[in-house]
Amino acid sequence: MKPIFLANWKMNMLPAEAETFCKSFLGLVQADASYTDIGIAAPYTSIAAVKAALGGKKGIWLGAQNCHWADNGAFTGEISAKMLKDMGCDFVIVGHSERRQYFGETNDTVSKRALKTIENGLRAVVCIGETEAQYKAGITNQVVLEQLKGSLAGISADMTKDVLLAYEPVWAIGTGLTATPEIAASVHALIRSELINMYGNVVADHLPILYGGSTKPDNIAGLCAMPNINGGLVGGASLQADSFAKLVINGR
Ligand code: 13P
Repeated sequence: MKPIFLANWKMNMLPAEAETFCKSFLGLVQADASYTDIGIAAPYTSIAAVKAALGGKKGIWLGAQNCHWADNGAFTGEISAKMLKDMGCDFVIVGHSERRQYFGETNDTVSKRALKTIENGLRAVVCIGETEAQYKAGITNQVVLEQLKGSLAGISADMTKDVLLAYEPVWAIGTGLTATPEIAASVHALIRSELINMYGNVVADHLPILYGGSTKPDNIAGLCAMPNINGGLVGGASLQADSFAKLVINGR
């Protein structure tokens, strides 16, 4: 499986900044595009700028960071997968821990958002991961399995070709604390084995499981060398073109 590196810009990057980033990034990763898949999940207001700056470049996917589970309607402040598809997006992140923590997302709403994303012809990047308290309480496996099953409820085996998972331990996000490759790999192995139970070997083998949480150019190779880690979902290190390019090159 080709490694996949997705930038999650979160609430950063004005359109002009996004354009500068993309131009510089394209120059840095040009030679590497065939070895890896790369995506950028921009804030909604910068998606058009990223699209224009990428100029339809193959191998770099255009993404968003959330979507609603209806196509349209009276949902002030929300955006639909249908709208994101219309803008040219390829993927949508759903269930990010910041959405779960600060905006009341539950496994149920995450699975509805994932389903609608896929129905609209986009790929869903479904995020799961335990909090620091859960990690310290030794219940990581239980939490991750519950989130995995709940967030994929209603996703059929046929739909899984449009699903990517991201394991992001909340205690490692933006903290500089990365899960060691061994810790991450053990959770990824757990996820893979549950995917086998849920969908069988063929689906489980082809479903990418990305790691996220303080990934940097200098720790990504160790993580990606582990079995079942198929790339990264990158926050802080994706905000500068040179560091995201280095991360992609080191991790591929
Ligand atoms: P950091 O890479 O900044 O820790 O963020 C990870 C993340 O939340 C990506 O979705």
